[in-house]
Amino acid sequence: MTPKSRNITWAHSAITREMRAKKNGHHSSIIWFTGLSGSGKSTLTRRVEEKLFERGCQTYILDGDNVRFGLNNDLGFSPEDRTENIRRIGEVSKLLLDSGAIVLTAFISPYRTDRDVNRELVDSGDFIEVFTKCSLEECEKRDPKGLYKKARSGEIPNFTGISAPYEEPLNAEIVIETDKFNVDECADMVIAALQERGIFDGDKAL
Ligand code: ADX
Repeated sequence: MTPKSRNITWAHSAITREMRAKKNGHHSSIIWFTGLSGSGKSTLTRRVEEKLFERGCQTYILDGDNVRFGLNNDLGFSPEDRTENIRRIGEVSKLLLDSGAIVLTAFISPYRTDRDVNRELVDSGDFIEVFTKCSLEECEKRDPKGLYKKARSGEIPNFTGISAPYEEPLNAEIVIETDKFNVDECADMVIAALQERGIFDGDKAL
């Protein structure tokens, strides 16, 4: 989107992303988790972050519920608001990517186009989509926040999976079936996939 502001110029830092990567001992990356509410995005990002942190990686989680308390507290769940929610997070993630961090995002991000827009914001390979695949039946059975129950009774309108759409990824880099494996197994699968992609190697040094 073209900025509304005129007469602005990009200020370049003397510290490059490569310099930050060398200092941290790993590359930065956006690990974009997407999936239904209750599919395990937040739980899995937290476990993956713990494992990365133990390896000495610079990490940060952006979580849907948390971000809606602050930065995005002016947004609801209409299609337009969800798109704006995801757009802002794409921009914040891009800044954190530049800071050298491995950014883990946990947003339903139900629209394929919105996810693809964020993918296009960064260089190829810097955006790794993780689909937390879990049947609606299982998410509804888990119902950790009691929201599916409220959505079924009509108390919550536009609820993803019930009265609002979720567009499954067609080409996610990583698919984790959270209804088939436990959290630790799922986190290990993500870590292994990141390692395969050269985000960091076994002993941390680049
Ligand atoms: S997104 O669709 O815009 O990506 P986001 O990940 O930020 O959603 O927020 C989803 C969280 O908000 C859910 O995990 C749930 O706790 C809460 N929530 C409240 N209302 C809704 C709704 N109508 N649809 C989906 N999630 C909702």
